[in-house]
Amino acid sequence: MTRVQEASAMASLVRREVAGLPVYDPGADPDEVARVNDVARIIKLSNNENPFGASPAVAAAVQRRLADVTRYPDPTGKRLTEALGRALTVPAERIVLGNGSENILELLCQAVLDPGDLVVTQAPGFSLHEIFPRMMGARVRKVAVTAEFGFDPAAWAGALAAAPKLVFLANPCNPTGVMLTAAELDHIVACAPPSALLVLDEAYCEFARPDPAYPDGMEVLRDHHRPWIVLRTFSKAYGLAGARVGYGIASNATLVQALDRVRTPYNVNQLAQDAAVAALGDQAHLTETVRRTGVEIARLAARLRDAGLRVAPSAANFLFIDTTRDADEVVRQLHRSGIIVKAWREPGYQTFIRASLSTPEDNDLFVRRLLEICGRRER
Ligand SMILES: Cc1ncc(COP(=O)(O)O)c(C=O)c1O
Repeated sequence: MTRVQEASAMASLVRREVAGLPVYDPGADPDEVARVNDVARIIKLSNNENPFGASPAVAAAVQRRLADVTRYPDPTGKRLTEALGRALTVPAERIVLGNGSENILELLCQAVLDPGDLVVTQAPGFSLHEIFPRMMGARVRKVAVTAEFGFDPAAWAGALAAAPKLVFLANPCNPTGVMLTAAELDHIVACAPPSALLVLDEAYCEFARPDPAYPDGMEVLRDHHRPWIVLRTFSKAYGLAGARVGYGIASNATLVQALDRVRTPYNVNQLAQDAAVAALGDQAHLTETVRRTGVEIARLAARLRDAGLRVAPSAANFLFIDTTRDADEVVRQLHRSGIIVKAWREPGYQTFIRASLSTPEDNDLFVRRLLEICGRRER
């Protein structure tokens, strides 16, 4: 075989669904941005990470476990699922752990979806809510938000009437940061076919909780005897994005057992499991992180709005901003100052960027630079 023949043979091995998948966009590589733009310092606002750091208890827990790195992790994640079970008053057998909550999104699709099944999700939305279903050969229907980034009850009712097998819904939504109310969640529960699996992705729930209008998904779903799972993560408010730990609380242990069959046995490493137990045990640190995030998000949103930019009302740790110009170009210009944000590429949002937080000083630099690029002046 020649190299060309080999490449073509390789390409024909790849499943059609996989070959056609959109590629996940993790945002620009900080080293590359620093090199290309010759900047010494990078301000990374592209991945909704936590600039305030994890609990100090995390470093101590990881340090203690380092000597055991020769051993495989606990495949059942017993200590963490039990700690979560106690904190949430849910039996541990209804809790599943993932290598990040994105791992659980993937496992759900592998366990539930057949080719041709329908999945309903929101647009704009988290790209993995589309990529993983399509990987399984499922069809994805997206429900658009309103012009004000809000929930569109009629559009949801229409999409749910088309008999989806699985519904992915993020609350708060990524990228807008907008949260659904209890009444909006109830509407989805009422319209979804009773046999459909409702997946409520609460990656940013801790940031939204101080708002009394934010519904606890488990509370809303608890009394509905239908299949559901609520997904959460240690990546965001707990500041453990690098450790990769997420979890799901399922309506029924049967779903957890199905996910256990498709997951790799050691999907969450032991350092990560211990880090998560330590982070969960430091609720004071979490509360302070959430408080500081809320202050900073409100401050930045107000400055951008005062300067005339449209910013979605965010209940999360990031802002969705209409720059009113080509977002890719805005992103390139920000790179020159070492600032990395994400240009949103979904149809209808090509002038939008999503920016998360850094330190208050870095956030100020970002706002100043963005307003310059957009030709806006602070009032
Ligand atoms: C809505 C949503 N769900 C899930 C995830 C996955 O997070 P992780 O895999 O780090 O838990 C993200 C990450 O950005 C997200 O925005």
